[in-house]
Amino acid sequence: MASTDYHNAALTVISDEVSPGALRWRSPSNIALVKYWGKHGDQLPQNASVSLTLDGAATDTTLSYLARRDSGSGVAVELYFAGELNPAFTDRTRKYLERLLPVYPFLRQLALRIDTDNTFPHSAGIASSASGMSALALCLVSLEERLFKPLPDRASFFRKASYLSRLGSGSACRSVYGGAAVWGKVGDLAGSSAEYAVPFADELHPVFQTYHDDILLVSKTEKSVSSRAGHGLMEQNPYAPARYEQADRRTREMLAILRRGELEKFMQVTESESLTLHALMMSSQPSYTLIEPNTLHIITTLRQFRKETGHPVCFTLDAGPNVHLLYPDGIATEVQRFVRDHLSPFCEDRAHLADRVGNGPEQLVPQETTGG
Ligand code: DP6
Repeated sequence: MASTDYHNAALTVISDEVSPGALRWRSPSNIALVKYWGKHGDQLPQNASVSLTLDGAATDTTLSYLARRDSGSGVAVELYFAGELNPAFTDRTRKYLERLLPVYPFLRQLALRIDTDNTFPHSAGIASSASGMSALALCLVSLEERLFKPLPDRASFFRKASYLSRLGSGSACRSVYGGAAVWGKVGDLAGSSAEYAVPFADELHPVFQTYHDDILLVSKTEKSVSSRAGHGLMEQNPYAPARYEQADRRTREMLAILRRGELEKFMQVTESESLTLHALMMSSQPSYTLIEPNTLHIITTLRQFRKETGHPVCFTLDAGPNVHLLYPDGIATEVQRFVRDHLSPFCEDRAHLADRVGNGPEQLVPQETTGG
């Protein structure tokens, strides 16, 4: 698919025919097993990636709209986060929506209000761009269907939502599917693309369908280097070419692991991926570190626990100090006791969130709307 295939100058409305309305979606976060790190062009990934979709960590977004009398050149939008008008988020969202004008020229003809909030604590230091951008993208595709006509089928709906999510934040394109999702061209995966993610839930071995992800909050502070800046530093990273080749190979490997339910290999690739991600940050110029001493304490303590008990529990890391523990449902009681007794002391205020693989986004009934 070409990046301009969704461009459609015909998607404009006749203002008098649009009555005010609202749409609401809940969309989850996801945790990458093989990491996207490095991009080019218009938000295209340098390598393929694969993630598990989470359940509890999600964003709820309501998109309210009414016809604008004087459609100006830009997009009229206000974003309220947790009930308060947020100028910084409003600005970022306006820029995002203006980039979508070739796809959705009607956005200029509406006054938009976005009300968004996360289901997890605001100060948890958890990245919300994946859940946030995908929730908004889903609202936009629903709005297209309401103002024009339904997309041919549900697969087309989610593919377009994934495409629009990607333009907002790369990892967000994987959040529109439950279970697991793959982003990037992968040889043996039909339909896979760098433009949007594709679902992988149907191929997921049962053991992974109920997998747990306990998020250990080593720090609740916002990270010091944005993902955007981190991706940028990959351009000069001397290991970049080898890394992109490795990640593509590991994505293929991980898909086989996820199909077959191979826990040993899963742990080996997943842990190595997260440490490779942080090694890339440390070997960038300028170099930076996002892991903290307690991140390493958790990793060491976890590996000791695994050695002693033989339990197949492993860790992964995002672009930050927090640790995600991934494990099958069958050992949940033991792992959760271990987290409480031995790992939570390494967390800020002993904070950790129990999450698991989820079913993907859900359309909700909008609450009372106030319009744009
Ligand atoms: C480390 O998707 O946050 O979480 O595209 O600039 O918004 P942008 O970056 P973002 O990068 C996430 C990187 C990661 C790995 C991953 O989720 O694959």
